[in-house]
Amino acid sequence: MDVQKFYMLAVLLSVLLSEATIDAQDTSGFISIDCGTPEDTNYNDTRTGINYISDEGLINTGEIYPISPDYTSNTLSEKPYLTVRSFPEGKRNCYILKPASGKSNKYLIRATFLYGNYDGQNKLPQFDLHLGVDYWYTVNITQASLYDQPEIVHVPPSDTIYICLVNTGKGTPFISSLELRPLNNTMYPSDSGSLSLFVRFDMGNNGLKTVRYKDDIYDRIWLPLVFETTQATINTTSIVDSPTNFFRPPSTVMSTASTPLDPTLPLTFNWDTDSVTDRYYIYMYFAELEKLQPNQTREFNIFLNGGLYFNQPINPLYLRPQTLYGSKADTNYSKYDFSFIKTKNSTLPPVLNALEAFKVVDILHAQTGDLETAAMYSIKSSYRISRNWQGDPCAPQEYVWDGVNCSYNGFNSPKVISLNLSSSGITSSTLAVIANLSNLQTLDLSNNKLTGRIPDFLGHMFFLKVLNIKGNNFTGPIPSQLLTNSQIGSLLLSADGLPINEEVKKKKSNVVLPIVASMSALFVILILLAALWIVRMKQRESQRKSNNMYSLESKNKQFTYSEILSITNNLQTIIGRGGFGIVYHGKIGDTEVAVKMFSSASMDEGFKELVSEFNVLIHVHHKNLTSLVGYCIDGEHLGIIYEYMANGDLKGHLSERNLYVLNWQDRLQIALDAAQGLEYLHHGIKNAIVHRDVKCTNILLDEKLRAKIADFGLSRAYPAETVTHVSTNRIAGTPGYLDPEYQNTGRLTEKSDIYSFGIVILEILTGKPAIMDNNPNPPINLKNWVGWIMQQGDMKDIVDPRLMGEFEVTSAKKAVEIAMACVSQESADRPTMTQVVMALKECLAMETIPQEKTLMDSDGQIFVHSKSMSMSR
Ligand SMILES: *[C@@H]1O[C@H](CO)[C@@H](O)[C@H](O)[C@H]1NC(C)=O
Ligand SMILES: *[C@@H]1O[C@H](CO)[C@@H](O)[C@H](O)[C@H]1NC(C)=O
Ligand SMILES: *[C@@H]1O[C@H](CO)[C@@H](O)[C@H](O)[C@H]1NC(C)=O
Ligand SMILES: *[C@@H]1O[C@H](CO)[C@@H](O)[C@H](O)[C@H]1NC(C)=O
Ligand SMILES: *[C@@H]1O[C@H](CO)[C@@H](O)[C@H](O)[C@H]1NC(C)=O
Ligand SMILES: *[C@@H]1O[C@H](CO)[C@@H](O)[C@H](O)[C@H]1NC(C)=O
Ligand SMILES: *[C@@H]1O[C@H](CO)[C@@H](O)[C@H](O)[C@H]1NC(C)=O
Ligand SMILES: *[C@@H]1O[C@H](CO)[C@@H](O)[C@H](O)[C@H]1NC(C)=O
Ligand SMILES: *[C@@H]1O[C@H](CO)[C@@H](O)[C@H](O)[C@H]1NC(C)=O
Ligand SMILES: *[C@@H]1O[C@H](CO)[C@@H](O)[C@H](O)[C@H]1NC(C)=O
Repeated sequence: MDVQKFYMLAVLLSVLLSEATIDAQDTSGFISIDCGTPEDTNYNDTRTGINYISDEGLINTGEIYPISPDYTSNTLSEKPYLTVRSFPEGKRNCYILKPASGKSNKYLIRATFLYGNYDGQNKLPQFDLHLGVDYWYTVNITQASLYDQPEIVHVPPSDTIYICLVNTGKGTPFISSLELRPLNNTMYPSDSGSLSLFVRFDMGNNGLKTVRYKDDIYDRIWLPLVFETTQATINTTSIVDSPTNFFRPPSTVMSTASTPLDPTLPLTFNWDTDSVTDRYYIYMYFAELEKLQPNQTREFNIFLNGGLYFNQPINPLYLRPQTLYGSKADTNYSKYDFSFIKTKNSTLPPVLNALEAFKVVDILHAQTGDLETAAMYSIKSSYRISRNWQGDPCAPQEYVWDGVNCSYNGFNSPKVISLNLSSSGITSSTLAVIANLSNLQTLDLSNNKLTGRIPDFLGHMFFLKVLNIKGNNFTGPIPSQLLTNSQIGSLLLSADGLPINEEVKKKKSNVVLPIVASMSALFVILILLAALWIVRMKQRESQRKSNNMYSLESKNKQFTYSEILSITNNLQTIIGRGGFGIVYHGKIGDTEVAVKMFSSASMDEGFKELVSEFNVLIHVHHKNLTSLVGYCIDGEHLGIIYEYMANGDLKGHLSERNLYVLNWQDRLQIALDAAQGLEYLHHGIKNAIVHRDVKCTNILLDEKLRAKIADFGLSRAYPAETVTHVSTNRIAGTPGYLDPEYQNTGRLTEKSDIYSFGIVILEILTGKPAIMDNNPNPPINLKNWVGWIMQQGDMKDIVDPRLMGEFEVTSAKKAVEIAMACVSQESADRPTMTQVVMALKECLAMETIPQEKTLMDSDGQIFVHSKSMSMSR
């Protein structure tokens, strides 16, 4: 049988409604939208009982239509499909879904398109569907009466999911309904990408009823499939279910099965692929539906294109569902031709109860960060900007919003770097959200209706280089920070009543001395912070008014020293000591925090460090960097409050005194986490940041042993485009980790961090410190020791002996190689952090190559779990 051909048949046949047989399940996480209906639409679908609402609140473009009466009596046109929203205007129109459980959870998203000649043109359109910022599916309407119903299993990287209809010049896009269902995160495991539904069949269902909610608690739609010429069906009235099979195939689906009409023949099915590079995840469901006699067995092998697909025969269990699936996609075939062949001993023919196959859709592009996106949407809604502002503000690049420019950097989120709101009729009320666009370099607010005082936050936007506020009705003086920034040349300010200094302009437009420029940028930071400090001092006396004026305030709270004392229970528990102070454990409400207080002896240094660290922390947000909770500037008390990391620093975990030995996989994961944090600092933000003090004590571990980089006190930022290095007046860092080139020349680049990180990797691999005690001889550098052992030969002598050989040699070799490349004497020979991240990912993948196929027992037991399992094909 040919699946593709019969898929259509199944759609045509799936006309009868199945009655709800099981008690109502929780639908609280479901999102069900009947597109093209009036705002107050709210009904419970007669078949499923699921509540559908209008799409009015989710999109503000498009036109709404009922489908033609010629098609409303069609049995396929269930109520949610009787109206459409169509999009004659704009190339891209997007719905925004915000599922309650947010990002990083697994969802099933399904869109339905029933044309039904809604426009009276009888022209079948074709258009693209994008998910997030990536291509998902081409909607291809082949008959006015038939719906196309793409579905995808997706883990969104952001709380905001965009579903975009893209006009490709082959007809007007439209949509009938949009549904989202939360799944259990353990379902449908895949190693990458999202899973676009290819087929989902309820095999052997003679009743021709599609099965969905409430039979299927996840509201998957199972199409009945019977091949009358080749297949017989068996069924049972018993319940076939097991709550521990985490795919939860519905009992109604499992209680019917296909079997060959001629019991001596194999059960076969096949499909052709569009391309051999297509990757499929295939899920097969089995259960025995007949009570077997002692002299009966049912046992069969599965072959794909003539090769054994799974390395042991299947014996379906009586009334208990089993699922066979691969932990990696099947690929490299132009045709998938499956045969289930009974073994010699088997007295009964093979069965198949249900089948699902998904095609992998690569999700390649990052969405703009949630904070920036929220800010852009807030601007959009409050200013009623009617441009092409749809979907993600920055991505994909060809659909970037009008008046917005973004920076794109590999896999990292795009950043909004310029915003032109000139002549947009905007008013002052919600200007403050612009502070959340923390990467802005250019902001044009000219010729609007802005009134009142010029907001202070504009002076605190770290990367802002060009600001135009002319043609408004602002009153009062220009804030002092803005004037300062403009005077020292870090900002090109255009404002009414401001004499523009030609000198300033010149200096700005041709930056001939990058070093000077970057130093002056640092100077600006210091001034800003000092100004901020003074403003704070004043503020504390007066009443704190609007606390959400700008980002520093809304994101990071300022604490008084007495608050610090109460948070830390009078500085009771010391959890670390650094160069300039002490770190205490604290609690804000139920949240644990770490509080770093600079000692008063290091007031000057301490203040510099606080400024530096603060400046890094407010501009970086990454899962592998410790995040800022607040700070304290109170008389001589300076402190920073961070999130608490339950497992302390990496050094402690590698120490021989620590009884719990980190296993090889944990070690690689920690190295990868830390590498990703550094990669972000180097390449993920517009102005690269050199950490300058990468070492094991500055890598902290949370309760799950996931690592984050901490301690940005020595960090230096510099604009990545104009400068290739920063000269520093003082060599800083920690012996054993210090880049020899930086030490000799004082030229600081991100390659200095790479060197230090190479040493960190070596420590992780060997469990030995950066400088090894070599009593009675002088201490030796870990790097030299590893180089020496490598020449002698055996990898096992390098890797931490406490691992007792429990590691993959190829993975260890690769890790040592990348570490040694990092510690190359010449910085030019060192890899970039992006290359380090890629190499470490490969090491980790070598370590975790999963078994190829898993048969999940109805008890949730993994039936086959052997890394060495071989598959002959
Ligand atoms: C839909 O069903 C729910 C519970 O089953 C009920 O509370 C709600 O009132 C119903 N809504 C409509 C519009 O019938
Ligand atoms: C759309 O469907 C028609 C009819 O089945 C087919 O000929 C055509 O190749 C399809 N186009 C795409 C892009 O899938
Ligand atoms: C179950 O099997 C019987 C006998 O073969 C058949 O009449 C009936 O339609 C089947 N039921 C389903 C739901 O397939
Ligand atoms: C998801 O499935 C796992 C394994 O079956 C189960 O332990 C867990 O409770 C499920 N989670 C939810 C939210 O249903
Ligand atoms: C199995 O045993 C039953 C009696 O219990 C008998 O009728 C049947 O013929 C046997 N079948 C086979 C294949 O031996
Ligand atoms: C795909 O097949 C080609 C030729 O048979 C082979 O060289 C290649 O390694 C295969 N790729 C994968 C990913 O299996
Ligand atoms: C087939 O049955 C024989 C005797 O019952 C047994 O020894 C043999 O292992 C079985 N073969 C398989 C592949 O199960
Ligand atoms: C965005 O970039 C384009 C091309 O580089 C430039 O012409 C335009 O002025 C920029 N827009 C803003 C608002 O900076
Ligand atoms: C903003 O757009 C206006 C016209 O729409 C243009 O005159 C102005 O130069 C733009 N500003 C920037 C900074 O590109
Ligand atoms: C600015 O204020 C003046 C006087 O209050 C008024 O005449 C003018 O229309 C205002 N301009 C704008 C752009 O609102």
